Amino acid sequence: MSHLNDSAAKQLELSNAERIEKIRSPRWIGYPRAKVVLAKLEDLLVYPRSHRMPNMLVVGDTNNGKTMLVQRFCALHPADNNPSGDGVRVPVLFVQAPPIPDEGRFYNAILELLFAPYKPNDRVDRKQFQVIKLLKYVGLRMLVIDEIHHIMAGNLNKQRTFLNVLKYLGNELQVPIVTVGTRDAFRALQTDSQLANRFEPVLLPRWEFDTDFLRLLASFERMLPLREPSLLHDTTLSTKLFSMSEGYIGELSRLLNMAGAYAVESGKERIDEKILNAIDWVSPSDRKRQIDRGG
Ligand SMILES: Nc1ncnc2c1ncn2[C@@H]1O[C@H](COP(=O)(O)OP(=O)(O)OP(=O)(O)O)[C@@H](O)[C@H]1O
Ligand SMILES: [Mg+2]
Repeated sequence: MSHLNDSAAKQLELSNAERIEKIRSPRWIGYPRAKVVLAKLEDLLVYPRSHRMPNMLVVGDTNNGKTMLVQRFCALHPADNNPSGDGVRVPVLFVQAPPIPDEGRFYNAILELLFAPYKPNDRVDRKQFQVIKLLKYVGLRMLVIDEIHHIMAGNLNKQRTFLNVLKYLGNELQVPIVTVGTRDAFRALQTDSQLANRFEPVLLPRWEFDTDFLRLLASFERMLPLREPSLLHDTTLSTKLFSMSEGYIGELSRLLNMAGAYAVESGKERIDEKILNAIDWVSPSDRKRQIDRGG
């Protein structure tokens, strides 16, 4: 089965239902831009400790692989129980920004991730003290904060306070902070010039119709356990896939999952134009228009 990688080829032995489940399961594709960002993160991780650590802001459109990318990085640097030493080591901690710029809730989230007992109603300075002590204890080397645009849900004053908290944490712990979010996050960071020049923006832009995109299609095809080659990177098919997904990797992934499942169910065993027309796909911008119209 030369159109498949080894594990997808093996999956051909499974029942149809099991194969569909595989098609719908998460998968990681190391596309070139992702590799560039991963390398930047590795660089940051080994940056010598100083009172002024460089930080990063991974910024991009929604549904375009930001979270998957940083989670991939975190998975490469997992916590270690450190059986011979004192306690658990956590080189990289991944935390979501609270839905509003609330310092206390942010600390709660960190304490919960580390299974630390805490009093939710404790004073915020005590929680801060506890968080810093704990993060030093586990040997933290990088703090990753996803959905940082959530801080835009507060007024300017609250936004600024929250950003100052980040600055303070970075200084105290002497670790780089990696924030992840949409363009709104970028704008929020720009409001504070001191922060703006400490957060290097790294872009995860929407895909363009180029050879990288064709390679991405080829990678997807090798991972989808279908019996026949679809040749997704072929001109007609790739053009159609690009326009249906509008350049978002999340849309492309969902689209191919739907088409792949349909290809199994229908017995066709490959994705072609007919299947793409049959799956009742609403493009992202049409979906948005429908919502804006209210139904
Ligand atoms: N490297 C990848 N390989 C394969 N599929 C991917 C990859 N990155 C993203 N995807 C697909 O795109 C979907 C959306 O990715 P992700 O959740 O990381 O986007 P996001 O940019 O964080 O979106 P949001 O702004 O909504 O948080 C994933 O669920 C997955 O299906
Ligand atoms: Mg995300």
